Amino acid sequence: MNAITPNAPALPAPVGLLAELTHRCPLRCPYCSNPLELDRRSGELDTATWQRVLTEAAALGVLHVHLSGGEPTARNDIVEITQTCAKLGLYSNLITSGVGGALAKLDALYDVGLDHVQLSVQGVDAANAEKIGGLKNAQPQKFAFAERVTQLGLPLTLNSVIHRGNIHEVEGFIDLAVKLGAKRLEVAHTQYYGWAYVNRAALMPNKADVDRSIRIVEAARERLKGQLVIDLVVPDYYAKYPKACAGGWGRKLMNVTPAGKVLPCHAAETIKQLEFWYVTDHSLGDIWANSPAFTAYRGTDWMQEPCRSCDRREKDWGGCRCQALALAGDAAATDPACSLSPLHAKVRDLATEEAAETPPDYTYRTIGSNVQPNVRSPLNEEVSL
Ligand code: FES
Repeated sequence: MNAITPNAPALPAPVGLLAELTHRCPLRCPYCSNPLELDRRSGELDTATWQRVLTEAAALGVLHVHLSGGEPTARNDIVEITQTCAKLGLYSNLITSGVGGALAKLDALYDVGLDHVQLSVQGVDAANAEKIGGLKNAQPQKFAFAERVTQLGLPLTLNSVIHRGNIHEVEGFIDLAVKLGAKRLEVAHTQYYGWAYVNRAALMPNKADVDRSIRIVEAARERLKGQLVIDLVVPDYYAKYPKACAGGWGRKLMNVTPAGKVLPCHAAETIKQLEFWYVTDHSLGDIWANSPAFTAYRGTDWMQEPCRSCDRREKDWGGCRCQALALAGDAAATDPACSLSPLHAKVRDLATEEAAETPPDYTYRTIGSNVQPNVRSPLNEEVSL
């Protein structure tokens, strides 16, 4: 299926496929990681193309498919697409806001073999949650959705993206996950790409609150052992080492956009010099092995110092390429989240300053908004992505 040369070292198969079925979404979260230029409905792949992509994914060795968006249940064919996953033996995870038409489709999704549900919650207090998500009456819809998920016996994960507007609710998110019968909770500090990057000054928490949130999670993990698993994503700007973004570039994940563009990570389109291939022109296997976007930062050959000689280079793979571009102006630089980056102290200072200022209003996620980001950079320049 792919065009790897016979003597090349074997390329491991991707483990996961993030299928961004649509960018349409009833919520307008200011931390959304989708690109600023959202795909319109008219440009979305049709059902047959998604089914062909899923068939190619299974043949390539993909195990998990994350049905995502936007709001994936906004697609009229979400049941057919989920059924295709089940028929192909792909583990399907529905990443949903739980609002709009999600509940009405849930039983049908269960009937065709949906494996797992990941439900987003924006806050614990309804008024706060609905302010962040930009949709009134969302909270009761989410709770009704969660109740039906557990009634059906589907495993439920709650996803809470943490920022300045809800960091005081971390304990509440943990109690909520227990109350709703979730098996897993993601306490994911905001990663500043896409809309979150535009809204960074409104979202950045201070270090004392971040440290407190980490202590709360660590205590709850002990207390709730065997009942609730809590995943913690720590905030990059205050970190010591970067995360292995997407499990390392071109190593584990493929991300297909609503229009069929295939990305090594969800924010990769911000790296304008990369050439991305589409599922409408190439097979998934060909893209995984040969797409210039996937080969650009795969492995370690592309690395500069201090990554090149670092003994962590095959642990964190240099961190995040998109963040390196946004903060250091070079996608091949060491991610400034790393304490070994020459920009690390400036990035931390920038976060501290933003967190101490009065937060600006949110710029809500909208299709066709034409928003122009105006975000401070540690290079003392304004960076537009
Ligand atoms: Fe693109 Fe991290 S978001 S590499």
